[in-house]
Amino acid sequence: MQNFEAKIVKASSLEELEEIRIELFGKKGYFAKEFEKLKNLPNEEKPKVAKELNEAKNALHILLQSKKDDLLAQAIQQRLEEERLDLSLFEPRELKGALHPVKQTLDTIIEYFVALNYSIETGPLVEDDFHNFEALNLPKHHPARDMQDTFYFEDGKLLRTHTSPVQIRTMQTQKPPIRMISPGAVFRRDFDLTHTPMFHQVEGLVVEEKGKVSFANLKFILEDFLRYMFGEVDVRFRPSFFPFTEPSAEVDISCIFCEGKGCRVCSHTGWLEVLGCGLVDPNVFAAVGYKNVSGYAFGLGVERFAMLLHRIGDLRSLFEGDLRLLEQFR
Ligand code: DAH
Repeated sequence: MQNFEAKIVKASSLEELEEIRIELFGKKGYFAKEFEKLKNLPNEEKPKVAKELNEAKNALHILLQSKKDDLLAQAIQQRLEEERLDLSLFEPRELKGALHPVKQTLDTIIEYFVALNYSIETGPLVEDDFHNFEALNLPKHHPARDMQDTFYFEDGKLLRTHTSPVQIRTMQTQKPPIRMISPGAVFRRDFDLTHTPMFHQVEGLVVEEKGKVSFANLKFILEDFLRYMFGEVDVRFRPSFFPFTEPSAEVDISCIFCEGKGCRVCSHTGWLEVLGCGLVDPNVFAAVGYKNVSGYAFGLGVERFAMLLHRIGDLRSLFEGDLRLLEQFR
């Protein structure tokens, strides 16, 4: 009996314990045999021996059960330790990407012109004086050069101040008719609420045989485009000056915030200036060797459009890389 108790206490696994249980309580086990032996005892001894056997059986049963509980608890503890999950490995927040509002606005603009069969042309960001100024009817010492504060390199090259040089490059390499837009980054020495040293423009140029396009075509396209961008706005053309167009105009839309009544955004004028345009100046065609053609051109600032469409007050916030801004544009 002592022997069995020790065995139970020492058992180190549930399997081992099960073997001991069978050895003790199984059909051919220790107690089965002992009870069998009772038959051969004299009647007067039977109750006493039977009582002792029953007591021993109960005691061992309880011991076995409690050992089993211990081993089960141990097994669970061991599993918990082995299968521990390191939750610090998981990023609990779901991070979703978003297109930058300038990119979204640019895509919307491009979609309009691509649908009208305009091609998309690009040019270098580091330009030469000829393409950025000279060929655009901005000779050296022309006062209009001061309108654009230029970043110069030591060799005389510069960071393009507008996307208009792509007009020149396109006409130099393609024959008319031309129908193109050129989206891209431009650079100026400017930094305040509404200016950053890098921003984006979309240039547009259409060139046809002489007499085939007029200011009326330009006006129609730009009015349609601006209503596509801003909804049912009024559009007005104001006479202006650009060296590369003649005549030139600046285009305003009725203020989308106050519907023309006058507010802080439109400086209480009821109008928002959104782009520049005009008929291509003959000097520009001469610079690229184009003869007997007429055309129109326009240029717009993408950030300006994005700021109006999304009511962004400070242009600089578009380029600070603050995720909280981007998260609003999913
Ligand atoms: N290049 C001008 C600028 O950067 C924008 C512009 C105005 C482009 C009128 C044009 C145009 O093609 O016709 O301010």
